[in-house]
Amino acid sequence: MSDEARSPLTPRDRLPRHVAIVMDGNGRWAQQRSLPRTAGHREGARTVRRVVQACNERGIEVLTLFAFSSENWRRPRREVEVLMNLFLTTLRSEIRRLDTANIRLRFIGDPGAFSATLQSYIVKAQQRTAGNTGLTLVIAANYGGRWDIAQAARRVAEDVAAGRLQPADVTPAVLHPYTCLSDLPELDLFIRTAGEQRISNFLLWQLAYTELYFTDRLWPDFDVDDLEAACAAFASRQRRFGLTAEQIARGGHA
Ligand code: FPP
Repeated sequence: MSDEARSPLTPRDRLPRHVAIVMDGNGRWAQQRSLPRTAGHREGARTVRRVVQACNERGIEVLTLFAFSSENWRRPRREVEVLMNLFLTTLRSEIRRLDTANIRLRFIGDPGAFSATLQSYIVKAQQRTAGNTGLTLVIAANYGGRWDIAQAARRVAEDVAAGRLQPADVTPAVLHPYTCLSDLPELDLFIRTAGEQRISNFLLWQLAYTELYFTDRLWPDFDVDDLEAACAAFASRQRRFGLTAEQIARGGHA
């Protein structure tokens, strides 16, 4: 798109603070070109780089990407192998760039099923970038929303069993800090590419008041203008958090 045709950027104070993306459509992108599905994942990794850079430059605080769900292990063995290799090589090749760009890397999910090498890179990448103050890039890997709620419930149960909590004390506010991402800004905007309108067991707990945005664009084709369009749609919505439009107009009071 030419600069003339481009609409003005969403003002910074109307941008989402925390964006999560289900990066769908890699397989279809490859199929359309008679390429193996894995070529789509490789191209998808290039899109990841573009979108991470754009979010960092725009001042978005957190970007959470669904890289590998707990259900993705059921894909053909070769595709899983390629994805694991891609995570490892991308982590190896990008970590210096991410660090220089002041990006903090975090992983959520159960790393136990990954190779020892990948697990050690995950630990090292998190340690190396822990003090960075730009974008927080969260990679959800072997993650599932139900897994997240279950691991939170298990740890609450441990605290109850140890006498640190009473069962009657367990409210949403008490459970919240046990869930992933609870120390980061609330999830404002959920994007899913490739035309599917599903959550697919992504951040179930965190999505309670998130704005949902779906686009037909396949992930490898998703670009900075598509990100801008999603941010503009977010900025145009009125978020009510259970209140009425009139209450919001009065400043959120009854
Ligand atoms: C969904 O498309 C995509 C995935 C399951 C993998 C996402 C992985 C990447 C984008 C690779 C790089 C990621 C990082 C963080 C380095 P699909 O295969 O379900 O596509 P389809 O629905 O068209 O078949």
